[in-house]
Amino acid sequence: MKHLLKLMDLSEKEITEILNLADQLKYEKKNGIEHHILKGKTLGMIFEKSSTRTRVSFEVGMYDLGGTALFLSSRDLQIGRGEPVEDTARVLSRYLDGIMIRTFEQAEVEKLAECGSIPIINGLTDYCHPCQVLADLMTIREHKGVIKGNKLCYIGDGNNMTNSLIVGGIKMGMTVSVACPKGYEPDAELMKWAEATGRFTCTDNVLEAAKDADVLYTDVWASMGQEGEAEERKKIFQGYQINSEVMAVAKSDAMVQHCLPAHRGEEITAEVFEAHADELFDEAENRLHAQKAVLVKCMS
Ligand code: CP
Ligand code: NVA
Repeated sequence: MKHLLKLMDLSEKEITEILNLADQLKYEKKNGIEHHILKGKTLGMIFEKSSTRTRVSFEVGMYDLGGTALFLSSRDLQIGRGEPVEDTARVLSRYLDGIMIRTFEQAEVEKLAECGSIPIINGLTDYCHPCQVLADLMTIREHKGVIKGNKLCYIGDGNNMTNSLIVGGIKMGMTVSVACPKGYEPDAELMKWAEATGRFTCTDNVLEAAKDADVLYTDVWASMGQEGEAEERKKIFQGYQINSEVMAVAKSDAMVQHCLPAHRGEEITAEVFEAHADELFDEAENRLHAQKAVLVKCMS
């Protein structure tokens, strides 16, 4: 695997191999076994948006693997002043062994990969969030034993998270249902691809989507870059929430996932959040282990 640009580029086998390696790295870290597989390697981390989990888990991940990570804010880079991505890619390829980038346009990430000569890892774009979904799949497998056959229900905005959950869930044999307001559906092409498998539905009815779900997932109503729409979205997304009514129609042992940060009282109630805090923070922790597996696959 050279890059991680989007989950659509990976096969079920490749995803499973990442998850298996992530499980192994997690077990070994817990038992004090060190692996300096990336000794002497440097990862540049370009951030054009804020981050807590992605930044810290990639930095700690590189440290754990014996390498170094550089935090590169677009506010300080020439890319933020208009230096072309093509030039940035060719320059950084001479210094670094890999780049993790969080930005707006998916095309920018794809262009970095095309013009540079080092592995590129997508740390979130407006289109997708593959690293998060690898950690989500790892967490689902940890809690449910298997991924295949489970029903994953996503409630809320058809955004970057939804797009990656559809691809990751369907590729790994899950049934995926999405509930979102009309006009806020996930990517049309991805929905078409998912519908062809017979394991995907999209509706504006939350309870219908959540019925018999094994995993309930939600994300913020306004993503980074949509701050100006936040008030309008609060009205449109009313009811697109994981609450006790939704939990009641899901399976009795349904787990709850959220990429975080969460807005209690909006997409999830405080009560449901706290009742499922163990699963939610296992999910956040697994960002570290899943990304270490991605770093090893791409950079070793
Ligand atoms: N879930 C996630 O990507 O979190 P950060 O925005 O904090 O990195
Ligand atoms: N959809 C959210 C995910 C944050 C991890 C955003 O893009 O802001």
